[in-house]
Amino acid sequence: MGDEAGNTSRLAVALLHYPVYDKNRRVVATAVTNLDIHDIARTAKTFGLARYYVVTPLLEQQELSRRIVRHWREGWGAEYNPKRKAALELVTVVTTLDEAVNDLERELGGPVRTVATGAGGALRSVSYAAMTGLLARGDENYLLLLGTGWGLTSEIMDRADLILAPITGSGAYNHLAVRSAAAIIVDRLLGNRH
Ligand SMILES: C[S@@+](CC[C@H](N)C(=O)[O-])C[C@H]1O[C@@H](n2cnc3c(N)ncnc32)[C@H](O)[C@@H]1O
Repeated sequence: MGDEAGNTSRLAVALLHYPVYDKNRRVVATAVTNLDIHDIARTAKTFGLARYYVVTPLLEQQELSRRIVRHWREGWGAEYNPKRKAALELVTVVTTLDEAVNDLERELGGPVRTVATGAGGALRSVSYAAMTGLLARGDENYLLLLGTGWGLTSEIMDRADLILAPITGSGAYNHLAVRSAAAIIVDRLLGNRH
């Protein structure tokens, strides 16, 4: 697959920098990180996702994100590393989750269902097998929601159409970086099983 992956998927991803919790469960807007932009873009491109939304209401953070993306899409960086350029073509910086959903609905030409993620689990969570089945049907569009800080707020979890079951490891420790969680989740949903 690699850079040849087409972005024909009905799945896209959004990284929310607001509203998320901080360490004390206050609702905050977190700072965008360079690594999150690059690494999740590469995962999105590898698995042929339709788009990768970086969601932040902070104008300075939007400008910083756009500057990073522009550098690797158009600037000196595009020539230096065309593979990175290809991944960053998928990135769209938006102010709110609603804006991401509306943009994706326009792009894919139909309604989009949101799929929240988190380490905590929820009563109504959907298994990876069930979600893979929904995607395989190919008749609906989905936007995977990823959190930053200490994770997505309960408001976002509650309003999401679906909540994916948490990834679990071998013990009680369950604190994946969002970049790792994104790669694991998307591989489980779209990756080839040899
Ligand atoms: C809470 S943030 C932590 C961000 C952290 N500060 C970092 O540097 O990546 C991690 C996000 O990754 C996803 N995530 C982390 N662990 C997960 C798990 N066990 N199952 C599903 N998603 C998980 C969720 O979207 C969660 O909001």
